[in-house]
Amino acid sequence: MSNRTQILCIGAGYVGGPTMAVIADKCPHLDVTVVDINAGRIAAWNGDTLPIYEPGLDEVVRRARGRNLFFSTDIEGGIRKAEIIFVSVNTPTKTFGQGAGCAADLQYWELTARQILAHSTSHKIVVEKSTLPVRTAEAMERILNGNDKGVRFDVLSNPEFLAEGTAVKDLEQPDRVLIGSHETPEGVAARKALVDVYTTWVPRERVIESNLWSAELSKLTANAFLAQRISSINAISALCEKTEADVDEVAYAIGTDSRIGPRFLKASVGFGGSCFRKDILNLVYICRSYGLDAPADYWESVVNMNDWQQARFVQTMLASMFNTVAGKRIALFGFAFKADTGDTRESPGIAVARQLIEEHARVVITDPQALDNAKVDLKDVSREIVFEPDPYKAAAGAHAIAVITEWTLFKTLDYERIFRAMEKPASIFDGRNILDRQKLFEIGFNVFAIGKRPLKHF
Ligand code: NAD
Ligand code: UGA
Repeated sequence: MSNRTQILCIGAGYVGGPTMAVIADKCPHLDVTVVDINAGRIAAWNGDTLPIYEPGLDEVVRRARGRNLFFSTDIEGGIRKAEIIFVSVNTPTKTFGQGAGCAADLQYWELTARQILAHSTSHKIVVEKSTLPVRTAEAMERILNGNDKGVRFDVLSNPEFLAEGTAVKDLEQPDRVLIGSHETPEGVAARKALVDVYTTWVPRERVIESNLWSAELSKLTANAFLAQRISSINAISALCEKTEADVDEVAYAIGTDSRIGPRFLKASVGFGGSCFRKDILNLVYICRSYGLDAPADYWESVVNMNDWQQARFVQTMLASMFNTVAGKRIALFGFAFKADTGDTRESPGIAVARQLIEEHARVVITDPQALDNAKVDLKDVSREIVFEPDPYKAAAGAHAIAVITEWTLFKTLDYERIFRAMEKPASIFDGRNILDRQKLFEIGFNVFAIGKRPLKHF
């Protein structure tokens, strides 16, 4: 067997794939293998078209794949030879039984722990990469270290903070890397082994060490705080629309206060993505399970505000289109939950499309990366939707355009041409505040942006 350190990652998804690709790229002295039960996904990681779209990822994978980065379905073999095992399986919201709709579903997680136990014959460092409820490591350790094989496992928490669309940059130049362990000699030694991996390319002062529970809870807290900022500015956006204040001006004015800071203050149709909602609801569930109802209610309101903002967006459309969109063609510009990704998980586009269909609108969706996922998300109503890659064709004959995703492409379109091909009055609902309102108004559109005074011709 090779004496190079063997790293394994279980779960080849949005986190496991890019994270391990960057570790392999930056650490040619390590062997990194990524395994998954999904053979199709592994085949895609080994092929020409990677299973996820991330700027810069192709190059990183191409440099390391076959050299010290391997994608495989041999989970058992991978476990046997690994010294450090990252677990990056999905931890969705539970859909059944106790905690349904709120708690984290840890079935994939526990299955993985049992698999690691079954196939390990030597000491392993097991790293929680997935986002997990605080104190999950306790259960993990009970499963792993309750064995009678004499094999010891050290569990670390190393949550991932990358954002989709900027994953490669976030991994190459992270704000911080967080590693939690027990403060025992074994725990600290395991932590040091992982610190050594990261400090190959991450400045030492950006690697934060903490106890296990702080690391686990910091991940949920970071997502809750980020989402809270969006809900806060979205709450203010509604007030702006009533008072003729401009939400971008308000965000700029408050963001220049260095205590508040400028980022994550962009008002929108609402936040989406696979994690904000799930992680906050998980936090809410954990608070309630400790009898902490006031903190639970507080965090739950962040999600409630987001749901309200999405519904409000559709209500604005209805109200300004003579209280009916029945039979009207409405083009959704974008369906990804943010730009530069094909991911549509929890995209506000899902709620907006469904509400419009309930109102009997004729919905057309255009997106440069996310149409395949959109078809899956809306498959139960897909007969009522047109999926159109060309935004000009999507808008032709439409009464309204609703911008759901802030793709650069949508800023550069010829809106005079689009206006000519639309039904009149033609309206634009900019759910991302990316378009030039004044210019669109002068072309002839009625323009409705988030947190801004509408510009109307009637
Ligand atoms: P994902 O669904 O894209 O990938 C998870 C992968 O795990 C899937 O390919 C699945 O087939 C595989 N898997 C499940 N059970 C398995 C098993 N027993 N053995 C082998 N493979 C198995 O999920 P993701 O977006 O990569 O998220 C993974 C975790 O990371 C979640 O806890 C998430 O909250 C967290 N996270 C995600 C992001 C993000 O941007 N997506 C960022 C930070 C943290
Ligand atoms: C988010 C966090 O930013 C990551 O740190 C975290 O690792 C990740 O969740 C996770 O745990 O999965 P991500 O969901 O990929 O990353 O993308 P974000 O950039 O955070 O955007 C989330 C949503 O908020 C998007 O729908 C985005 O459009 C929206 N958003 C973001 C706003 O509406 N306004 C803003 O100012 C910022």
